[in-house]
Amino acid sequence: MLPTIEWNADGVVMIDQRKLPASEVYVTCKTANEVAKAIKTMVIRGAPAIGVAAAMGIALGTRRSTATGTKQFTTEFQRICDVMAATRPTAVNLFWAIERMKRTFAAEALRGASVDEIKQRLGSEARAIHDEDVQSCKTMGEHGAALVPDTARILTHCNAGALATAGFGTALGVIRAAAGQGKNVTVLADETRPFLQGARLTAWELIKDGIETTVITDNMAASMMRLGDIDLVVVGADRIAANGDVANKIGTYGVAVLAREHGLPFYVAAPLSTIDLETPDGSTIPIEERSDREVTHVGASRVTPEGAKIRNPAFDVTPARFVTAIVTERGIARPPYSESLAQLIGN
Ligand code: MRU
Repeated sequence: MLPTIEWNADGVVMIDQRKLPASEVYVTCKTANEVAKAIKTMVIRGAPAIGVAAAMGIALGTRRSTATGTKQFTTEFQRICDVMAATRPTAVNLFWAIERMKRTFAAEALRGASVDEIKQRLGSEARAIHDEDVQSCKTMGEHGAALVPDTARILTHCNAGALATAGFGTALGVIRAAAGQGKNVTVLADETRPFLQGARLTAWELIKDGIETTVITDNMAASMMRLGDIDLVVVGADRIAANGDVANKIGTYGVAVLAREHGLPFYVAAPLSTIDLETPDGSTIPIEERSDREVTHVGASRVTPEGAKIRNPAFDVTPARFVTAIVTERGIARPPYSESLAQLIGN
């Protein structure tokens, strides 16, 4: 599997997810502003991957700072954090990673570290966030694989794979781990209009791994369930509220309601960095509205008439009552989530 993101001597390097699967090209961001733009324009996307990119962008930006005194350095650091925070509002992993970098900065400043020492420490923290994310996905995958029968046809929505994380994936991590244990898993990937993360990214990743994948358009899932062609659903998440409400890619809510109607388990796989205990329920999760063009066009072709109004909310909220279980790196949470999530996080 090609790396999703890495930080090397040239800058923060990421595979351009807008171009997949047609071409596998890498973008090198040389400044924090370039990293922020890459997040905003979806060169890199997926909640954990956005968090990793922001942390690396902050480390890169501060590394390039010419400030000599801590006062000016602190102002620059704060500005870079603000730029990162303004990229995408829904995935809480972004804010979790920024907070972690801020705590690192504050601890170093408190102990009287020099500008150079703080730069080093921010760099190692960003690398740690990356490496821990890969490890979390692998552990989560092992926990989640226990929920997958020996033979399973699994529906997933959007891309919650290696591309959406530092590696291995959350929902696709569960699928990978089950396949790795010798289970006979096949995947139905919702195409996921308008950005087509399922058709382009999930199918690309899974086919590379030799996992049989069938792409369906979003409006086919109900019929597939009715035909008995799906055994379970597993998706990722962008933010999970304290009561277990799950914000994820637009269309997830519909899939969850369908799964309930057809008696199928609906699982969510996400690291602890996606759980937001500060947000009591889904009603206050900010939902990003993206540009009309993602809806009016497929590639370069316009598919809607001029003058038609457009809505493009990028995420929806699935109420906790539709979620069978939430798989994390620390184990599996079951309802009532207000208790099980707090317990997992250790509150
Ligand atoms: O708009 P995107 O592509 O960033 O949305 C991604 C999703 O909704 C994923 O399902 C979610 O981030 C989970 S990623 C492990």
